[in-house]
Amino acid sequence: MLVLGFESSCDETGVALVDASGAGVPRLLSHALHSQIAMHQAYGGVVPELASRDHIRRVLPLTEQVLADAGRSLKDVDVVAYTRGPGLAGALLVGAGVACSLAAALGKPVMGVHHLEGHLLSPFLSQDPPEFAFVALLVSGGHTQLMQVDRVGCYAVLGETIDDAAGEAFDKSAKLLGLPYPGGPHLAKLAQGGDAQAFKLPRPLLHSGDLDFSFSGLKTAVLTQARKLGEPMGEQARADLAASTQAAIVEVLVKKSLKALEQTGLKRLVVAGGVGANTLLREQLNLACGKRGIRVYYPELHLCTDNGAMIALAAGMRLQAGLESVQRGYTFDVKPRWGLAEISA
Ligand code: KG4
Ligand code: ZN
Repeated sequence: MLVLGFESSCDETGVALVDASGAGVPRLLSHALHSQIAMHQAYGGVVPELASRDHIRRVLPLTEQVLADAGRSLKDVDVVAYTRGPGLAGALLVGAGVACSLAAALGKPVMGVHHLEGHLLSPFLSQDPPEFAFVALLVSGGHTQLMQVDRVGCYAVLGETIDDAAGEAFDKSAKLLGLPYPGGPHLAKLAQGGDAQAFKLPRPLLHSGDLDFSFSGLKTAVLTQARKLGEPMGEQARADLAASTQAAIVEVLVKKSLKALEQTGLKRLVVAGGVGANTLLREQLNLACGKRGIRVYYPELHLCTDNGAMIALAAGMRLQAGLESVQRGYTFDVKPRWGLAEISA
């Protein structure tokens, strides 16, 4: 069973083809991605209208590339999948529109996929996939959540951010340090030459007793420090502030993840979403979990940020699990705001 998947929820156009035949983990046959980062950089963030227009430009050439790379043609496709939400409405509509038109033309079923379910399941495409059940730390530009994942389609939210997402905290702090969008990887790079102890920054909700996060206070603290340093900020001070910011975000993510593991008694942790690419986060999680006999699983680095592979994969895994998600007609909607709990069995 071949699933063609489309991702267009934000600033990446992703298309992928997976083989979900049999009961094994679906196999990625090919995938292609176009990142709009360079286009949005001039504006310091994603411009929704530009994002939608660029998805329109990229999606069909990427689809042709994916089919050619896999040595397949459209008539080989059994199911078409697309990101139904959450994300930018206009951007989502491009993927949904293309997927539903293609499926209608081919006379094949179509399936709307939850973007975060894609992130959650993305480690199943790696060489060493996890087994169920596990705790998942979802850390992206729009989301910060700890989930308990018992099986495909069975997700319980253990805790989430009450304001900014972890990626947003990285991006907003990076902006204050004069770094380009999206700031997460730039801030991490700058932090390499900095002293993480140089600035005392808050660890919001670290001792709240629950598994929720809050990052907006951290951004304000970084702003206060940046103002104190004045302009131009010395190079070392900038690196020190970057390192201190990264350390604060990472410490909160690590401590809350450990608490979630302790609370659920689970021995596996899956880390997904763009911030999961952060080296310090990986080092600290590996160290802390290693000491406790907990295994940590990551998607392959190129599948940490948004991509079509995780959407095709999630569709394939849902179909294999017998979950009723195939859309029979070709009318569609998108869900810009959509909680993962809503699709959980
Ligand atoms: O999952 P993703 O590609 O898109 C969303 O669905 O949001 O995540 C993007 C986020 C951005 O905030 C970006 O700055 C952050 O992931 N990010 C990082 C790193 N790489 C990407 N943050 C910290 N360190 C990194 N190495
Ligand atoms: Zn994402």
